[in-house]
Amino acid sequence: MTVLTLPPGLGGERVTALGDRARICGLYDTLGAPVYDDLAAADGFEIGDIVAAVRTGAEGPVLDLAAGAGRFTLPLLATGREVTALDLSADMLDLLRARLAKAPRSMRERCTVVQADMSAFDLRRGFGHIVLGTTSLSLLDAEGRAGLYRSVAAHLAPGGQFLVSVMERADDEAPTEVHSRVRGASGTSYDLYEYWPAGAAHRYVTIAPTEPAADGPVTVCVDEVGTMSIAAIEAELAEAGLTVAGRRPLTGMGDRHRVTLLKAVAAR
Ligand SMILES: C[S@@+](CC[C@H](N)C(=O)[O-])C[C@H]1O[C@@H](n2cnc3c(N)ncnc32)[C@H](O)[C@@H]1O
Repeated sequence: MTVLTLPPGLGGERVTALGDRARICGLYDTLGAPVYDDLAAADGFEIGDIVAAVRTGAEGPVLDLAAGAGRFTLPLLATGREVTALDLSADMLDLLRARLAKAPRSMRERCTVVQADMSAFDLRRGFGHIVLGTTSLSLLDAEGRAGLYRSVAAHLAPGGQFLVSVMERADDEAPTEVHSRVRGASGTSYDLYEYWPAGAAHRYVTIAPTEPAADGPVTVCVDEVGTMSIAAIEAELAEAGLTVAGRRPLTGMGDRHRVTLLKAVAAR
């Protein structure tokens, strides 16, 4: 979910300090997509886990949900599978198409790009794997998740697997707010503020360049993301006829976040 108003905490203070220079945007829109992509291109988190799960799991084509600019799509294509990349944002899919255009033809030809809502899609075919990584499940509310599970169940081929990552707050004692500095693939440094009070239904992520130009507009990306527990998600999956057959804790997200890759299959 995108918030185009002042975020709480240090992110909001940063926006206020920029005054009318601040251009608040979402993470996946025209202004925000290049920033997200710069950071994502430097981030290898979860790629190896997803690719390994697909390589060792069911045969057949792969559906990459919330594919963005293809952080998983291209490594999945490199396994030799046919991949459908689905995302809601035209701006993110433009970045993916640009990346595919530079990829070898043999890979490009095995990729289908679809602009659609992951909470209600109808591709009229089955997949050996349906992947929803980067904890993007948290972008949907309860109704959206119910629609997602329905759509996933309708698109899993017999024996197919749904791979979905879920993020929890690692520790209720962790601070409400953290500020970190991250570098994008371009070398640009960004300040990242995460505001996540223990028990809150949402967390806020604010990203601003560490050293903006001396004058002119400054792009500040703000995202409001739902929080969830694995137990609640597993209950939702079961309700939708999807049984969790595997849970793999992922490492590399720091002390504050606990990410688990769930593998779900259609209940018999
Ligand atoms: C955190 S990014 C993940 C992108 C990519 N998988 C990666 O790891 O870099 C989340 C993506 O979800 C997309 N998205 C948000 N809501 C969506 C929806 N309802 N249906 C499909 N895609 C959605 C955004 O456009 C964005 O590209």
